[in-house]
Amino acid sequence: MSRIEKFLLSVLLMIYLIGCGGDGKKRKKVSTVTKVVTTFSALPKTVKSPLDNPSTPEKETLGKLLFYDPILSGNKDVSCATCHHPDNGYAEFLDISIGPNATGLGSRRKFNTPNDIPFVKRNAPTIINSAYNGMDAFGNYEPSEATMFWDDRVKSLEVQALEPIKAFEEMRGHGFDADSILQIVVNRVKHIPEYQKLFASAFNEPEAVSVTNLAKAIATFERSLVTNNSRFDKYMRGDQDAILTSEKEGFELFKSVGCVNCHNGPMFSDYKMHVLGTPKTEKLEQADFGVEDTFAFRTPTLRNLRFTAPYMHNGSLSSLKKVLEFYEDIADGKKRNEYVPVRKYDPFVRQLNLSVKEMSQIISFLNTLNDTNFDRTIPESVPSGLAVGGNIQ
Ligand code: HEC
Ligand code: HEC
Repeated sequence: MSRIEKFLLSVLLMIYLIGCGGDGKKRKKVSTVTKVVTTFSALPKTVKSPLDNPSTPEKETLGKLLFYDPILSGNKDVSCATCHHPDNGYAEFLDISIGPNATGLGSRRKFNTPNDIPFVKRNAPTIINSAYNGMDAFGNYEPSEATMFWDDRVKSLEVQALEPIKAFEEMRGHGFDADSILQIVVNRVKHIPEYQKLFASAFNEPEAVSVTNLAKAIATFERSLVTNNSRFDKYMRGDQDAILTSEKEGFELFKSVGCVNCHNGPMFSDYKMHVLGTPKTEKLEQADFGVEDTFAFRTPTLRNLRFTAPYMHNGSLSSLKKVLEFYEDIADGKKRNEYVPVRKYDPFVRQLNLSVKEMSQIISFLNTLNDTNFDRTIPESVPSGLAVGGNIQ
């Protein structure tokens, strides 16, 4: 039995009694009720798939090859692994991503010259555990509804997998239209005998090589990339010695200072949008205004932070220490982004109560959420014969 810890953190019930003059009647109005139940438990040991895409070893093998094959990009120079590489925990050791017309991996990735491709405006999150995206505080999730991206704008790994192929600055590049690129890519794949075989064995249907099946295979591979046995998971499952006393103290602080109001559940995310006023990046000419121009971004998971620096939607904070200093600033009502006035901050930001001394203990607790046990193997070659992973050398 996994140990489930539940507690009610804040129940805010504001009842405004508004007295009326005139007719002498009294009206009672409940204006806001904010209730956050924060629950923590281990991640489940298994992964669910959508009903129309059950996981099989054949799909996973195919999906892995597609993930590393730059054939999916317009100019055959970028693969999914370019920005989500196992050496970087399937995230990217770079603040904001660089797609086509570039060379190198992570912090060494640079645009070739000449170049007119813009930066991708956001930081690449890790693919590890994205299979659990959208999980609620009690560990419930629905894979076909799993929210993706820093603004939750698409649902499911299947739908997500096609977005980077269509995006100009991620994989499409010059010379291709967003409307036709998917079909162009599928036609290329169709003409490679090894892919024909792999699609046929993964999908038992006549026209096995299709846009839909390409997305399904990639999503299946991504569902194999989970880490659900961190020291924290072991602790939650009952092994009291899995984490140190100081880390347990860090966990208590994490809860008591108010991080839990947004980072909760087995994924340490409520998957909701919040305005923090994260510092902008100097690399973008036009600032990223987030969801509906509100500067709100999704609460990210806090699992595997060891692999996912730099942090925030734009990689603007390079270390966990800087993230905590940022929280201390905003909790104190300081402004860190010229576009975001303090009054716009999420109400939970104002409830944070953080001191310098507590930071290192919280960081040591966050380390218990790292789990190095994930697939780091890279295919030796991909069926297109192109460079594995794209131009990353
Ligand atoms: C040029 C770099 C780049 C490439 C190539 C790329 N991605 Fe991403 N990926 C990103 C960035 C940046 C984001 C966040 C974008 C956003 O939130 O708007 C992202 C987000 C994601 C997410 C969402 C994770 C989450 O927790 O919300 C998944 C899944 C993903 N990518 C998978 C893929 C797959 C599959 C491919 C190949 C088909 C791919 N990516 C290609 C940079 C890249
Ligand atoms: C109001 C909700 C909220 C509270 C409270 C909150 N966070 Fe966050 N956290 C977020 C959001 C939203 C982001 C992403 C912001 C962005 O990208 O601009 C984030 C980002 C982070 C990141 C960066 C993760 C990554 O992969 O980039 C860390 C680490 C973090 N928070 C830790 C904490 C800690 C520790 C606390 C308590 C001191 C805390 N958070 C309190 C909502 C919250």
